[in-house]
Amino acid sequence: MSTHRIGYFVGSLSSTSINRVLSKALIKLAPDGLEFTEIPIRDLPLYSQDYDADFPAPARALKQAIDASDGILFVSPEYNRSIPGALKNAIDWGSRPWGTNSFARKPTGIIGASPGGIGTAVMQSSMRSVLSFLDAPQLNAPEAYITFNSEDFGDDGEVGNESTAEFLRHYMSEYEAFVQRVLSVNAPGHIGDEHPDSRH
Ligand code: FNR
Repeated sequence: MSTHRIGYFVGSLSSTSINRVLSKALIKLAPDGLEFTEIPIRDLPLYSQDYDADFPAPARALKQAIDASDGILFVSPEYNRSIPGALKNAIDWGSRPWGTNSFARKPTGIIGASPGGIGTAVMQSSMRSVLSFLDAPQLNAPEAYITFNSEDFGDDGEVGNESTAEFLRHYMSEYEAFVQRVLSVNAPGHIGDEHPDSRH
């Protein structure tokens, strides 16, 4: 397999984010063929259509980073049974201006950690709805709802629990295969290549 550039979002702005720890673990356990670059969301203003004529620098950088990525990985907490506002705001920026949805056809993965038992399942369900609307193919299986136990994870992403490490390794391996599959279907000359962004 060739090397793929993966842009990843951490959906938390917390300095002690367990999802940031999870993102470090995923990068450590990922196959060698994936190269990771974080797509920062912290400095984005709240999106308004008023910006469409002239996006501010952090939003231009966000869209360029998505465009430069072969695949996107979302590593996010669940806030009040949904997507954290900072992450949803970033997705809204990436989807606009109209006709320049940066997520279209990008292979995506969604994973998240919570101290609670359902491990961000409801947030992920909301994300799937958003990403479907944005025409972003998603890794459907395996699902990855991580109940975060601080004893299993070091701050730099070392995973002490071997069965958790094996699950995360498997997830990233499946994610790599999925990105490869989507890119091969998206390759120039494939049937459907002329498909316009036809929503009205
Ligand atoms: C939470 N938390 C939470 N957890 C969960 O499993 N489901 C939920 O709906 C929520 N809702 C929620 C709302 C808000 C505003 C906060 C601040 C927290 C708890 C959350 O999982 C926990 O704080 C994690 O540590 C957040 O992830 P990061 O920021 O540490 O990556």
